Amino acid sequence: MLVDRFGRVATDLRVSLTDRCNLRCTYCMPPEGLPWLPKPQLLTDDEVVRLVAIGVRRLGITEVRYTGGEPLLRRGLVEIVRRTAELRPRPQISLTTNGIGLRRLAPALAEAGLDRVNVSLDTLDAGLFRRLAHRDRLADVLAGLEAAHRAGLHPVKVNAVLMRGVNDHEAVPLLRFCLERGYQLRFIEQMPLDAQHGWRRAQMVTAEEILAELSREFELTPEDPRTRGSAPAETFLVDGGPGRVGIIGSVTRPFCGACDRVRLTADGHVRNCLFATEETNLRDAMRAGADDEELAGRWAAAVRAKRAGHGIDDPGFLQPARPMSAIGG
Ligand code: GTP
Ligand code: 5AD
Ligand code: SF4
Repeated sequence: MLVDRFGRVATDLRVSLTDRCNLRCTYCMPPEGLPWLPKPQLLTDDEVVRLVAIGVRRLGITEVRYTGGEPLLRRGLVEIVRRTAELRPRPQISLTTNGIGLRRLAPALAEAGLDRVNVSLDTLDAGLFRRLAHRDRLADVLAGLEAAHRAGLHPVKVNAVLMRGVNDHEAVPLLRFCLERGYQLRFIEQMPLDAQHGWRRAQMVTAEEILAELSREFELTPEDPRTRGSAPAETFLVDGGPGRVGIIGSVTRPFCGACDRVRLTADGHVRNCLFATEETNLRDAMRAGADDEELAGRWAAAVRAKRAGHGIDDPGFLQPARPMSAIGG
């Protein structure tokens, strides 16, 4: 088991498969991109599967989420999913993606054993999408969402980060769009994880503001908090249900106390938190010949050292050196 000093048990493994992306969302990456990790530093497909297998067989991991950057850019993704689905006990397998390429890949991923997807979508306005993501790809994202739904990758969740004066007028249209299509929308508070270090607290649209905006249009009924478990989203029934909306208030309503997550970066480092300042390099240990038991031991030690919370409000808070795109969302 992966247990920390506060008694939290990590069962949810989030694996970043690449730090690259085909979008440039302003809250994540500069338009020119970032210095990508050199290929030899990336875990190979076999190395990814070996570490995931150690997590599942020895360390109690029950959920595996593949993320990026943009995980659909990883050529071996379908086979990595297939091999993950062959592990026993079989973990739940999900994907967090910007949706570009899902139109083509959703059926193969579903067939390989992918259970569900979360897709980022911050606006329904093609012009604003182009300004926000620096690429003209809204139609591809929408087609990807549809393909995922058709392929049975349920529930299809949609992630929207609202930015003040940019897309905060789209909360209601985004929710209508998702309710009509049976997607579960979650609004996310922006966190200080952008590569440019441009995050300002005053610019962040808070959970409270989002709820106030939605409440002008819809009747929101909070769901029983006991059913939330370790989920990052608080959920609300919309107009009596069955439609729902989620709010991920990572900054103003942190859920660190119930966190069950641990991360593996594309270059094989364990991170015990999105905001960790230290990492444990399993790749070099593995390449130097460490056996599964030793790797599991290093991994467990990394999780034991996890801090109580993200500390965004602490006076000496420092943004982690790795941006979100290189950590995995
Ligand atoms: P499910 O609810 O199981 O589908 O997963 P998820 O919501 O964690 O997955 P996703 O990758 O879609 O993440 C959505 C958002 O949750 C991210 O954009 C983050 O803002 C937030 N988030 C994910 N993991 C963490 C975490 O460890 N800590 C904090 N503070 N926020 C997180
Ligand atoms: N704060 C909050 N969410 C972010 N994402 C990317 N960068 C940030 C940030 N700084 C979101 C993406 C995606 C998910 C994985 O993380 O929109 O949906
Ligand atoms: Fe790409 Fe996701 Fe970053 Fe947008 S938030 S640039 S989709 S990695």
